[in-house]
Amino acid sequence: MDKLVIRGGRRLSGCVTASGSKNTSLPIIAATLLTGKGTFTLHHIPDLQDIKTFSQLLNHLGVETSFADNTLKVSSRNVESLMAPYELVKKMRASIYVLGPLLARFGHARVSLPGGCAFGPRPIDLHLMAMEKLGARIAIETGFIDASIPDGKLRGAHIDFPVSSVGATGNALMAAVLATGTTTISNAAAEPEIETLCKFLIAMGATIHGTGTTELEIVGKESLNPIEFHNVFDRIEAGTLLAAAAITGGDITVNGVEPQQLKAVLKKFVHAGCTIDTTETSVTLKSPEKLLATDVTAKPYPSFPTDMQAQWIALMTQAEGTSHITDKIYHERFNHIPELNRLGARIEIHKNQAVVHGPQKLSGTKVMSTDLRASASLVLAGLIAEGTTEVLRVYHLDRGYEKIETKLKSLGADISREKYNEF
Ligand code: EPU
Repeated sequence: MDKLVIRGGRRLSGCVTASGSKNTSLPIIAATLLTGKGTFTLHHIPDLQDIKTFSQLLNHLGVETSFADNTLKVSSRNVESLMAPYELVKKMRASIYVLGPLLARFGHARVSLPGGCAFGPRPIDLHLMAMEKLGARIAIETGFIDASIPDGKLRGAHIDFPVSSVGATGNALMAAVLATGTTTISNAAAEPEIETLCKFLIAMGATIHGTGTTELEIVGKESLNPIEFHNVFDRIEAGTLLAAAAITGGDITVNGVEPQQLKAVLKKFVHAGCTIDTTETSVTLKSPEKLLATDVTAKPYPSFPTDMQAQWIALMTQAEGTSHITDKIYHERFNHIPELNRLGARIEIHKNQAVVHGPQKLSGTKVMSTDLRASASLVLAGLIAEGTTEVLRVYHLDRGYEKIETKLKSLGADISREKYNEF
């Protein structure tokens, strides 16, 4: 297995370019299942384990894929199977994204139930509710979702989500674009990942009104077309790199971003005392003499993202005062806290809120990654901890951060990847 070995205390400085968004890549790759008319060319796709896993899932269905220099080519001409097996789905919950497009194009799909998640319950009831509203019959048997369409074709409907869900909105969109008639979605997720999926589907020939808002209207089409598409930047990677600079008292510029998508996060950096300068495609962060304790509450976009919560907690261990970090999306997403405390942080958990007492001197030791963003928070802590921090089980980090140690090294961090034997 791989671990990251970090010798803390180096101030980060310089420029770095954001990679393509993982959480946008996954639904747009799934959307290629909607047509068998030719080949899609998707640029700026990050070279990540999750993209490999999703490509393997598509290959299992009979889809041809090839990946080189961050460009993924996909052709769904010869889909031979409509079944997403447990072995692949258990590796990545986002596999559920094949449900909507397979059902809409072929009238049937069998997708293994995803099972547990490292940070608490993550139900898929809203995905299933949306498919049923569009006329699907759903049966859960032998650990699989079996979805079919008694009427032969999905038909437009009104879908009102009681909770804002990125995944369920994505699935509903991908099903509705091939349904007969008009579908309306209320309380749709307005995350940039869904906005980009809408733009992708529109470029394929879909009609969608309300892109980027919580009210969407989709007019179903008979068929859609393959396209060439340039993926957007990864807003969570960009936010993580900015937090890495801030925790070390550094100054960095992240290029290749749309600052508007980072607005809630940038606002919090300013509250914490950082200076933020933006251009149309870059963000520059300058650290203050002293970071100030800053509360955040993770909520659906445009609020502060849950995927930045763990990194913010790590940052706040170095801030003057007590900060409260509340997660209203995943109430139990706090696996990083015991590990941060092992590095010397003083963080308590009260229900869905972390209370961080800062600033605390951290000292390096071995820490265990438990999920993607938890791992990122441990890397940030390692950058400021005295001595050497070893972040074990880096495969969690590799699911979502492209060349993270290369990027941090280029900014001046002392970080290397080494092999180790866990037992
Ligand atoms: N929810 C339900 N029922 C459902 C679906 C969701 O109750 O059927 C609830 C969830 O339990 C949660 C809330 O709705 O409380 C929002 O979950 P959402 O469906 O939006 O999450 P997701 O689509 O499964 C995506 C990202 C996550 C990110 C969340 C929230 C991808 C592949 N994953 O997950 O990213 O945390 O949205 O923004 O896009 C990550 O990248 O580390 C990650 C976990």
